[in-house]
Amino acid sequence: MPPTALLLEGIHDSADLRLQTDYVDVQRADRLSDANADILKEAIGIGIRSRTNLDAETLRKLPALSTVGCFCIGTNQVDLACAADSGIPVFNSPFSNTRSVAELVMGEIICLHRKLFDRSSGMHQGHWKKSASGAHEIRGRTLGILGYGHIGAQVSILAEAMGMRVLYHDHQPKLPLGNASQVDSLDTLLRASDVLTVHVPDTPLTQHMIDADAIGKMKSGAFLLNNARGSIVDLSALAVALRTGHLGGVAIDVFPDEPSENESSFSHELCGIDNVILTPHIGGSTREAQENIARDVAEKMAKFLTTGSTIGAVNLPEVALRERPDQLRILHIHHNVPGVLSRLHATIAQVGLNINAEALDSNAHRSCVLLDVDPSDDPAVFKVLGAMPETIRLHTFLPNPPESPSAQTV
Ligand code: NAI
Repeated sequence: MPPTALLLEGIHDSADLRLQTDYVDVQRADRLSDANADILKEAIGIGIRSRTNLDAETLRKLPALSTVGCFCIGTNQVDLACAADSGIPVFNSPFSNTRSVAELVMGEIICLHRKLFDRSSGMHQGHWKKSASGAHEIRGRTLGILGYGHIGAQVSILAEAMGMRVLYHDHQPKLPLGNASQVDSLDTLLRASDVLTVHVPDTPLTQHMIDADAIGKMKSGAFLLNNARGSIVDLSALAVALRTGHLGGVAIDVFPDEPSENESSFSHELCGIDNVILTPHIGGSTREAQENIARDVAEKMAKFLTTGSTIGAVNLPEVALRERPDQLRILHIHHNVPGVLSRLHATIAQVGLNINAEALDSNAHRSCVLLDVDPSDDPAVFKVLGAMPETIRLHTFLPNPPESPSAQTV
């Protein structure tokens, strides 16, 4: 019988296609429930989005589980340490919605320059207000990008294509794309930008990075966009700057406290202020992003199940080897204590197997070793490796795999 992966929460069906390519049988359900208990007992993989909680208790009830795919960005719905203690790599897709966010940013920049939301809601309320006052083209305006990573760099390309001058600040040196220029400080960026768009992650260094002081350094009438994380911009300071007319408008997609349920009510001090675009954290929410996420996470799960690659795992060290189908491949996940590697080598040598390729990576607690050895069906080596007290989990991948993933877990 082929191994099974259970996909929950309406994950895009490009995931099924990718897993089936490696002969994994895909089953579907909305959520974990008693109705799928039998499938879960056998499942080697489980795919979830943000609503399924895989806590320690749930993970312990899934004896065959080899890998978890979080078909989203965040992974805090999974007990990552518990999964790592069972040698279960957890994969996610941090960058599949980059383009969706960048496109939203461009849309918002134009909307702010033309006061589009105010004009449109005025019409809905029955007011015809034709005026060029305060309306601008974006061509020739200066866009400041704070954080020139995946999203910031995409915004840079799109903005230049529309005739904007692009400056950016990043705490790492970053190769400028097109004619963009890196500036030496946040202060310089704030003072030079007609529009500031924020694309740094949530870290202790970025919390309230855009506070009243920073906003005060921005040009009078400038626009500010935050599609990154709610902790980065002080929204109360922003409300003051909008009410006093220091800022000309803002677009905010992320908030310090976001409702966990859809259809929740929402109120905020920014509500009702002119030229303020508020969106419910939808920067990355497009069909295309969902499809990219499904393909990306399914690819990582399939690679793990067929080749032992842990590249992209958020809770285990990352190892991979190029594919060598004539070899017996061993993935040994163990506690990171001295002496394990030499005993691993000695054990393999004792049964007369030659190691032909090896990759090792460790974090403070755990190590992953991926080995290609001469083909063998001698169970002795697997027994000894599996029985080492430091072993967390042992996966083997047989040479010339038949029509199913060949991982066998000890
Ligand atoms: P990334 O990791 O590719 O880029 C972040 C950049 O910020 C890096 O170049 C980094 O060097 C820079 N950076 C970090 N700390 C900094 C500091 N203190 N000062 C200056 N630069 C700093 O991240 P990516 O994918 O571009 O995402 C950016 C943000 O967008 C993240 O906060 C992410 O959570 C958020 N995001 C929001 C979405 C939404 O739905 N609104 C969807 C996807 C991402």
